[in-house]
Amino acid sequence: MARAFWSDPFLEYFYPDENVRTHRIERFFQILWGLSLPLGHVAVTDSCETVALWRPPYRWRVKRRTIAANLPHMLGAYGTATGRVIRCLEAMEKHHPRRPHWYLATVGTDPAYQGRGLAGRLIRSNLDRCDAAGEPAYLEAASESLVGFYGGMGFQLLDEVKVPGGPKFYPMWREPA
Ligand SMILES: CC(C)(COP(=O)(O)OP(=O)(O)OC[C@H]1O[C@@H](n2cnc3c(N)ncnc32)[C@H](O)[C@@H]1OP(=O)(O)O)[C@@H](O)C(=O)NCCC(=O)NCCS
Repeated sequence: MARAFWSDPFLEYFYPDENVRTHRIERFFQILWGLSLPLGHVAVTDSCETVALWRPPYRWRVKRRTIAANLPHMLGAYGTATGRVIRCLEAMEKHHPRRPHWYLATVGTDPAYQGRGLAGRLIRSNLDRCDAAGEPAYLEAASESLVGFYGGMGFQLLDEVKVPGGPKFYPMWREPA
């Protein structure tokens, strides 16, 4: 994930110093995984070339008491980026749809394996389950160029949101087929 997200607009914004970014992103994802694993559904390809973190309906939001319990760990991991991380999370939470849905919190493919259809297949396998259950799905695309990638899977652009002082994200919603 650290390799995949090295030049992601949000991780660049959180950690502008390239000398420490890899280590910081690793810690960032350790926290995200720690919070996400008990909540839901993590999909990986055979050798973990691609990882997709999903959260099931009604469980997209990380509870305040979970954040409070993890706060020292989070502050240690986020360091001086804490304010920027919180600003982004708040903006995302504000725009997050309240209707029940599956939330694709994040997906990444090791750069050496990108462009082979791994992420597409991994995401679609969960979308097939959404279709079978009649459940919608939601994600925030981290750049405008990814809107087409997710659009090809049936996600529709809802909005374009600028984090104050930070990057933009692109909320996308998918009705079940
Ligand atoms: C986005 C990402 C998960 C795609 O993984 P992947 O395994 O290469 O995906 P696939 O091989 O299934 O699909 C590749 C498609 O995505 C497109 N794509 C990948 N990254 C893209 C980007 N940053 N901008 C635009 N299109 C992108 C490719 O052009 C390709 O399109 P095509 O199938 O029409 O040729 C991967 O590029 C990645 O990890 N990026 C960095 C992290 C990231 O941005 N994650 C998503 C956050 S919302």
